Amino acid sequence: MAQINENFLKLKAGYLFPEIGRRVSKFCSGHPDANVIRLGIGDVTEPLPTAIQEAMHSAVDELGDRASFRGYGPEQGYDFLRNAIVENDYQARGVDVSADEVFVSDGSKCDSGNILDIFGPDNVVAVLDPVYPVYVDTNVMAGRTGNADESGRFAGLVYLPVTAENDFLPPLPDRPVDLIYLCYPNNPTGTVATRETLAQWVNYARDNNAILLFDAAYEAYITDPEIPHSIFEIDGAREVAIEFRSFSKNAGFTGVRCAFTVVPKELTGQTSTGESVEIQPLWNRRQSTKFNGASYVVQRGAEAAYGEAGKQQIRQLIDFYLKNAEILREGLQAVGIEVYGGVNAPYVWLKTPDSMASWDFFDRLLEQAHLVGTPGSGFGASGEGYFRLSAFNSRENIEEAVSRLKANIG
Ligand code: MLT
Repeated sequence: MAQINENFLKLKAGYLFPEIGRRVSKFCSGHPDANVIRLGIGDVTEPLPTAIQEAMHSAVDELGDRASFRGYGPEQGYDFLRNAIVENDYQARGVDVSADEVFVSDGSKCDSGNILDIFGPDNVVAVLDPVYPVYVDTNVMAGRTGNADESGRFAGLVYLPVTAENDFLPPLPDRPVDLIYLCYPNNPTGTVATRETLAQWVNYARDNNAILLFDAAYEAYITDPEIPHSIFEIDGAREVAIEFRSFSKNAGFTGVRCAFTVVPKELTGQTSTGESVEIQPLWNRRQSTKFNGASYVVQRGAEAAYGEAGKQQIRQLIDFYLKNAEILREGLQAVGIEVYGGVNAPYVWLKTPDSMASWDFFDRLLEQAHLVGTPGSGFGASGEGYFRLSAFNSRENIEEAVSRLKANIG
């Protein structure tokens, strides 16, 4: 009889967003006429920028012609895209990254889970709490944890609470850890990390031989010029960090799928006998073996994100979603709700009224206002009593959501 990976059985509930989808579908089937507005999962709603559409159309035409047809591409991504990434996302900010340190993929969610293939089973992992659930669940699947307690915290993981009480500044771990997930601008709280905060993490990692897994999927939403967009803007980060980036939330690729991971050549880990090993060749080997590259059409689309027209159109998209976030923030504040985030990020994080439990507030909003958000406790025990609203929606829906919020809370 084939045996299963029993670590999966430790994951009691379903993944957060399908669970929300299940509850919403149930509500909708009982209320077929309800106009439900979804501000739950952070999924973009606006069409692809025209510069990207055009690039993808012409890539399809190339593939339709024998003379320009292409089969398998490089597993690491085409040079045209890797070079555009280096030039625009890094060199333009004075950051030293080379094209062979950039690995193009079909998503940051996959990359942040897949990266665990190259790390040993005994690493101690630290996550912020609340946290993007993928970081936790993939470590559970990989066997790096024990069971979850009543609050959903897994034995063996080190949780770093981020709440209004500590200004959403994670404390440094109180015991030795090897891998630390950081996500800035933060999902779910929408808060950002200053240069000083990031430098503190880089120094921590250097002093403790730890590696930072830095998720910068929302960097394009940073409006404050003092806030770093990349962990590699911090001196010394090349020796201790891996960075994940995505085209999902800036260029609208949640359905198209394209992302990349930067693994600097200076980054090393250790064998169990203490021998130092470079990480970049391990990730290269993993990708070449298990991945055949993102599609050519998609990579041409991603390349167009860096053209003059693409940049301008993406800026408009981001400004549009940021304006949505502002409308949400102001609407909530007008009815006395405490809100965080939503200034350098597309997520607004709020304290539930009267300290309601997050899932109770979810049910109340769905039933009374036909609005969907994400319960803070779904992101971790320290998210209890909080709630996330996503700014990814049409302006009409955001304005309607605010008037329903005003009518139903306050
Ligand atoms: C979210 O809503 O947290 C994100 O959409 C999830 C993701 O990017 O995978």
